[in-house]
Amino acid sequence: MFISYCVLISVTVKGRKKDHLRICMEEDVEAGYAGFDLVRLDHRASPEISLSEVKTSTRFLGKRLDFPLIFEAITGGTGEARKVNKALARVAQEYGLGMGVGSQRAALENPRLATTYKVRDAAPDILLIGNLGAVQLNCGYGLEDCRKAVEMIDADALALHLNPLQEVIQPEGDTDFRGLTGKINAVASKMDVPVIVKEVGSGLDLKTARKLKVAALDCGGLGGTSWSLVESHRTNGKMKSVGVTYADWGTPTAESIAELSRVKKPLIASGGVRNGLDAAKCIALGADVVGAALPVLRAYGSGGEKAVREYVELFIAEFRTAMFLTGSKNVKKLKGKAR
Ligand SMILES: Cc1cc2nc3c(=O)[nH]c(=O)nc-3n(C[C@H](O)[C@H](O)[C@H](O)COP(=O)(O)O)c2cc1C
Repeated sequence: MFISYCVLISVTVKGRKKDHLRICMEEDVEAGYAGFDLVRLDHRASPEISLSEVKTSTRFLGKRLDFPLIFEAITGGTGEARKVNKALARVAQEYGLGMGVGSQRAALENPRLATTYKVRDAAPDILLIGNLGAVQLNCGYGLEDCRKAVEMIDADALALHLNPLQEVIQPEGDTDFRGLTGKINAVASKMDVPVIVKEVGSGLDLKTARKLKVAALDCGGLGGTSWSLVESHRTNGKMKSVGVTYADWGTPTAESIAELSRVKKPLIASGGVRNGLDAAKCIALGADVVGAALPVLRAYGSGGEKAVREYVELFIAEFRTAMFLTGSKNVKKLKGKAR
């Protein structure tokens, strides 16, 4: 049996995923500054390369990406989520991107929901990342559940998210984070696929990152979707106000990348990455790839798969422009070209 204060009713989890999609599509849920405005890329008046030879492909966690963008974990567990996941997977396959699915807890509790996360038929070649809340390791979940999540979608990696602020504001949140880094490390050491630890909008701090013995990190910095704000839309009374007060709590993404690049692990930069220029700045600051969630979901909401494709094409054009203007023939050459 699970510990009583960990709320594990699948109906609740499924309802929450529905709320998150609706709130993120309809409400103003962004807060704080990612810090990209303060970062300048090194302009080369004569780049000494041809735009046509700029190569955006890279490798991350053993997989080739044609472009260093990952659609971050968004959803699963509902009919709408199935459509979103399938559409994003098709676009990811077409452009050689990576993709994460939303927390798979709903499907671990109710296996009939697993199909809403499965996208391999639409995206056989992409870097596909499973997802669970790390705090669930303090609520009865363990190695077997992590393995099941990976098997469920034939994932290449598993992301465990750290979201203490969200859990505080969330009406049914789990707030016992005692001993969690040790549990994450124990799971990661026994998994057959790489484990990524990600924050979801407050920034993964250096002290925590240094304790983690995992394959990769996702900074999940401040400046994009605020989970404090999202959850404040789902609650009433004083926690609604607390959620608004803490809307911009955390470390801006640009700062978080610079900090985490000292850990020397594969690094995903996310949190407020909105265009290809932001992405180029992230890589110049030390990230290996970038992740985006809200703009991708909003593109889907505004015009379905076609709009997501258009968003990606613009993103790529912006990124390639930064590569050209900094004289960077490939993604590696862009690194360090920021001040
Ligand atoms: C609707 C929605 C649902 C999300 N659900 C999850 C989730 O289940 N697991 C997770 O790790 N992150 C989840 N995220 C967080 C994103 O993966 C990402 O870390 C965060 O939103 C920051 O990126 P952004 O500013 O580009 O949105 C979700 C984001 C959105 C917009």
